[in-house]
Amino acid sequence: MCGIVGFIGHVDAKEILLTGLERLEYRGYDSAGIALFDQDAVHVFKDKGRIANLRSVVDPQVKGTVGMGHTRWATHGKPTQRNAHPHQSSTGRFTLVHNGVIENEIELRETYLSDYAFQSDTDTEVIVALIEKLALTHDLATAIQCLIEKLHGSYALGIIDHEQPDVLYAVKNKSPLLLGKGETFQMMGSDAMAMLHCTDQLIEIHDKEYVRIEKERLTIYDATGQVVNRTPFVAQIDATEIEKGTYAHYMLKEIDEQPVVMRRLIDTYFKAGQIDIDDAILATVEQAKRMYIIAAGTSMHAGWIGKQLLEGTGTPTEVHIASEFVYNTPIITEGALFIFLSQSGETADSRAVLVKMKALGYPCLTLTNVAGSTLSREADHTLLLHAGPEIAVASTKAYTATVAVLAILATRLAGESDFNLAHELAVVATVMESLIADKEMYSQLARTYLTAHHAFYIGRHVDYYTALEAALKLKEISYIQAEGFAAGELKHGTIALIEDQTPVIGIISQAAVHLNTRSNLKEVEARGAKTLTISFKSLSLASDQVIIDDVHPLLAPLITCIPTQLLAYYGALHRQLDIDKPRNLAKSVTVE
Ligand code: AGP
Repeated sequence: MCGIVGFIGHVDAKEILLTGLERLEYRGYDSAGIALFDQDAVHVFKDKGRIANLRSVVDPQVKGTVGMGHTRWATHGKPTQRNAHPHQSSTGRFTLVHNGVIENEIELRETYLSDYAFQSDTDTEVIVALIEKLALTHDLATAIQCLIEKLHGSYALGIIDHEQPDVLYAVKNKSPLLLGKGETFQMMGSDAMAMLHCTDQLIEIHDKEYVRIEKERLTIYDATGQVVNRTPFVAQIDATEIEKGTYAHYMLKEIDEQPVVMRRLIDTYFKAGQIDIDDAILATVEQAKRMYIIAAGTSMHAGWIGKQLLEGTGTPTEVHIASEFVYNTPIITEGALFIFLSQSGETADSRAVLVKMKALGYPCLTLTNVAGSTLSREADHTLLLHAGPEIAVASTKAYTATVAVLAILATRLAGESDFNLAHELAVVATVMESLIADKEMYSQLARTYLTAHHAFYIGRHVDYYTALEAALKLKEISYIQAEGFAAGELKHGTIALIEDQTPVIGIISQAAVHLNTRSNLKEVEARGAKTLTISFKSLSLASDQVIIDDVHPLLAPLITCIPTQLLAYYGALHRQLDIDKPRNLAKSVTVE
């Protein structure tokens, strides 16, 4: 969702900001803008659409050593030039960018700003108007403290005060924001990506803190104005990993990286053939009497497979949609452990649960791909996914990495057994390689089968969870109305939708239920459906379109998802869609 980058130093900030915004593109956005402060005036350039549009409206003659950039994912008001950030206060004294949602904006408008002439439909303009009003009667530090008191909701803010040409301000609550430290410059950014082209020295900002950013120094204050000392940390991202190389799309690159990720996880989590997980994490997990997996979207689908794996160790495990759990919390059993699954580590829905559960005293473990992310910092423990940066909005390698790390955790928890997980994951990596080598076949299958505006994935047991994930992948990038169903549920309603040539894709990897799923495929075929079957070799028929070498049945979801990722990719490619940045979607969903 919205991305922020800010810079203050001795060189022109323009290109630094534009590059930072390009690095944030993956988060999802629909308009963009920058503000440049050239000591005399603050120049604002903004436009709807991509950064390329913004570049075309930026005046190359304007230079400024202080500036802020923003990519906007519309929440309040359409994605127009008028609603794009930065926004300026009515006198022009303040210029502001914002990521988040102000929940009490209506109340603020009515209480403090009833005579203010708003220029946009955004909640952000309320903040810039309010800071201007507060600064009439307070020095700016006090005005920011009052602002923090008055704002309810999530916000990461960058603020320029026209009366202070050598300072940039940052304020944060709930929405992600980091500081970037240089020798002769300082930065702020929504994540490390926004700043890695200048620095890998980062500093956290905690909720309700604000920062005075000057060329040579950063000063962090808490909400009462007390100075906070915080040590920088080094970003654990290799900037070269975020390049697309010769690939047309990040998504295809990330699909192809999955075997490497599996091998990296073996290297990371196994020592001398034994699973190597931090003792403190292990002790926490072993003490749990019931586990609650909290996640959203694809990470939640990985969670369902995690439930299957963790319950195999004898510990009851529940899976919950983060956005539901936080405001509709079920009875929590004594001895609960909360496990958060989040590629980005920034998902606001999951974070809301984490904050609530931590306050209630429950232990929290986060599985994330991003070291230093909010969910990682705020949980008691973290297990990293080691998938490398995932840029495409559609999650692929982080999904399989999450499933693999859950399998590692569950296997360690189960203790001594003949199950050699390192070997089984190595087999998975090899089978993944053979599947992704056959791209032309998936391109053809997508042409043949994904011809309608709708499609169904069906499966039983863990194949049902793969069906859910496969349908989400297809929906989000190809815009085909796809649904994943437990194959046995079809007859209870959904089969009414089957008509001539409806695509139905069956997933078959579990011996105990394969005949049942085949029967369900027959039932839809009898009603005109065009079926495509993805099956394990040991359970296959010669007529199956995709036959996969068997892996251990517990790890089947790591493999059966690969053809579905490729079908989604080619389905979208044949429709000439923006695969890495699908419409309306954001990579990091940082608002609830
Ligand atoms: C995945 O393809 C989706 N883009 C989306 O469902 C995603 O998994 C979800 O928003 C959760 O994100 P997270 O893993 O970063 O928390």
